[in-house]
Amino acid sequence: MIVSLEIAVELIKSGEVVAIPTETVYGLAADALNIHAVEKTFRLKKRPADNPLIVHICSMDQLNSLSSEISDDAIRLATAYWPGPLTMVFKKRSHIPDMVTAGLNTVAIRLPDHPLTQSLIKQTSPLTAPSANISGRPSPTKADHVLDDFDESVPVLDGGPCRIGLESTVIDLTGNIPVILRPGSITADMIFKDTGISVADHAVTFDNLKKSPGTRFSHYKPIASVSWLNHVPTAFDKRSYYIFHSDQFSIQAENVTCYNGDYERFAKNLYDHFRRADHLGYNHILIESMSGIMDSQFTSALTDRISKAIG
Ligand code: TXA
Ligand code: MG
Repeated sequence: MIVSLEIAVELIKSGEVVAIPTETVYGLAADALNIHAVEKTFRLKKRPADNPLIVHICSMDQLNSLSSEISDDAIRLATAYWPGPLTMVFKKRSHIPDMVTAGLNTVAIRLPDHPLTQSLIKQTSPLTAPSANISGRPSPTKADHVLDDFDESVPVLDGGPCRIGLESTVIDLTGNIPVILRPGSITADMIFKDTGISVADHAVTFDNLKKSPGTRFSHYKPIASVSWLNHVPTAFDKRSYYIFHSDQFSIQAENVTCYNGDYERFAKNLYDHFRRADHLGYNHILIESMSGIMDSQFTSALTDRISKAIG
């Protein structure tokens, strides 16, 4: 069911869960300090209790209310990228419920760039918001995707299609150097150019898997199987959907999409492709291999999400 901002405010205040728009993907929002509401989020999403949630805020005052250890680097990153698709992991204050952080002594925080959601947070409280999909499924980038996953049982604040379409970059600021735990559209290179801060690029080490439990789970999966396409097929199979992203391909067919090097548009549409392929009954989704592709702002995040959908 689609709801207005006013209704969304009332629902959040009364401990209910509401799907909200952000510039990355839709989130399943609840009052971060209300354990019953947070518990409902985990239940609805069928999310493992050991995968912590991101807390969404609308001001630096709220950041200070959630963490007492905010470094100069954090302030610089917030100044450069908030509101925007960057989540930072801080030491948490003790009043944040353990359920939110899955028992960790850190909390992931971001200030999203969507006017409806900023207004909702201003009128309520900091909100936990995991992506608004059933755990393991592709993240929702449109209100309809949320309604599909939850059979209309979750109220949705419709803010239109998400501008970016891939989840935020997650950076851990609690160690000796900042480390990217989940790649997104804000990359280590960009951060260095924009702020002079050196950030270790994401590496799937045991240590990082422990630090960012979410990266451990199989994720973003449509019902159709997903694979990399290493060779151009001589014939296109009718039960497969093909995606080419480099500027080498311009193929016109019902079951083929070409992005001609427009990685921003590919990122925006990836999860919609996954969901549409399922609706249309395709058995396989075949995606041109990303190896050897000139680095774009989205290459690392796209490779990560597609690899997880394959895995
Ligand atoms: O763009 C986004 O980040 C979206 C929108 C809705 O804001 N949210 C999102 O949430 O992707 P979710 O729950 O699907 O993914 C959150 C990721 C998971 O990989 C989780 O393990 C990690 O952030 N995370 C949350 N709290 C953490 C913490 N304290 N330390 C390390 N990683 C954390
Ligand atoms: Mg998610």
